[in-house]
Amino acid sequence: MRKQIAAANWKMNLTFTEAKDLLDAVLNNDLELAPHQLAIFAVPFPYLLMAQEVIRGYNNYFIAAQNCYFQKSGAYTGEVSVSMLSSIGTSFVIIGHSERREYFNENHQMLANKINLCFDENLKPIFCCGEPLSVREAGIQNDYVETQLAESLFHLDGSKLQDFVIAYEPIWAIGTGKTASSDQAQEMHKHIRNVMSDKYGDDIAGSISILYGGSVKAANAAEIFGQQDVDGGLVGGASLVAGEFTAIIKSLK
Ligand code: PGA
Repeated sequence: MRKQIAAANWKMNLTFTEAKDLLDAVLNNDLELAPHQLAIFAVPFPYLLMAQEVIRGYNNYFIAAQNCYFQKSGAYTGEVSVSMLSSIGTSFVIIGHSERREYFNENHQMLANKINLCFDENLKPIFCCGEPLSVREAGIQNDYVETQLAESLFHLDGSKLQDFVIAYEPIWAIGTGKTASSDQAQEMHKHIRNVMSDKYGDDIAGSISILYGGSVKAANAAEIFGQQDVDGGLVGGASLVAGEFTAIIKSLK
């Protein structure tokens, strides 16, 4: 069975002490994750080492960075490279979150570069895609998301995409309290899997974990994750509350 993943995206929230307390509170529940279930915490850069230390010894818990730079190294004051993340043992990195695309003007090519660097350094990307409201209202969301996948992933050899992680996050559902209906999520997830299958074949497409993101909370996680092509969630706001995120992990298939 492909991996089912609950990924917390803390964004730019929490002090160091709050972050540690939140991790402890989730881990203290001693949730037994099945071999195919993962819980990932995407924490701010300054907390990566602390978070990695806290989860040490817990099976199937991982730490992710929320971003990385698209150049390998050099005179880029303030940026964080993929090799820096890999050198401290970070497992995953979120690539192409809509907030990065929108506020930091990250384009398809930059994201493709980031993905390449991740593969060079054995860091696992969590590649985000998803349409704004205007695109959904125009009914062209499938083409929009297909372009995002094609422009940043299709240069890759299929072997790289075995067990890859994609997060579909409709922008109109992020932080708005408006969730896509489980039917809307399933429809887009199926489309994403079909797009990947047309390019790379059924085996690879079937191995890719496609997470849904956008106002996932304890109350709606089980229904959304229950859809055939939804393999868990990328969770912002609700991941900042230990009880909520714990319940979301428990909702994994
Ligand atoms: P949200 O954020 O759960 O607060 O909507 C999701 C995300 O942006 O990853």
